[in-house]
Amino acid sequence: MPSDLTIVPFERKHLPGLMELFARERWSYAEDEQRTWRALTAPGSLTLIAISDEAVVGVAQAIGDGEIQAFLAVLLVAEAYRHTGVAKRLVAEALARTHCLRLDVISCADGFYERLGFKCVSGFRVTPGPVRQESR
Ligand SMILES: CC(C)(COP(=O)(O)OP(=O)(O)OC[C@H]1O[C@@H](n2cnc3c(N)ncnc32)[C@H](O)[C@@H]1OP(=O)(O)O)[C@@H](O)C(=O)NCCC(=O)NCCS
Repeated sequence: MPSDLTIVPFERKHLPGLMELFARERWSYAEDEQRTWRALTAPGSLTLIAISDEAVVGVAQAIGDGEIQAFLAVLLVAEAYRHTGVAKRLVAEALARTHCLRLDVISCADGFYERLGFKCVSGFRVTPGPVRQESR
């Protein structure tokens, strides 16, 4: 882990560095800075930023009800800082600070989550459009 790593709550001053991080990964968060700001500061959100060498090197967003359930909506670490424990620290802090009983994620990195002790359960996703309602 970088010796100077700090995990801090997301503030507007982090936005430019964060947008660069999203752009490098071609995530949809890179498309519109103001939308990304609104998304990462939405009600119920906890967004944490990992800082090293005065640069944004990682981000995690957990969205929770403050009591029982939380969802890990964003987790990203700059390529040069991967495999140094940054994401593990972000997830641990997100879990602790959301004060929820569980943290769910739709995974793009199964091996990572398994390594951290997440258990695989089935999940579903729907995107905007007609939700099928067939009559029997
Ligand atoms: C997945 C990701 C967040 C991991 O970040 P990271 O900072 O490299 O992870 P860490 O260094 O904290 O790794 C923690 C442990 O998981 C392991 N690990 C990391 N990435 C892994 C992977 N893709 N597969 C299997 N194990 C992995 C590490 O070796 C480490 O193991 P250890 O505790 O035995 O040393 C990072 O690779 C990333 O940002 N990827 C692109 C975005 C992405 O896929 N985000 C997840 C969206 S669901």
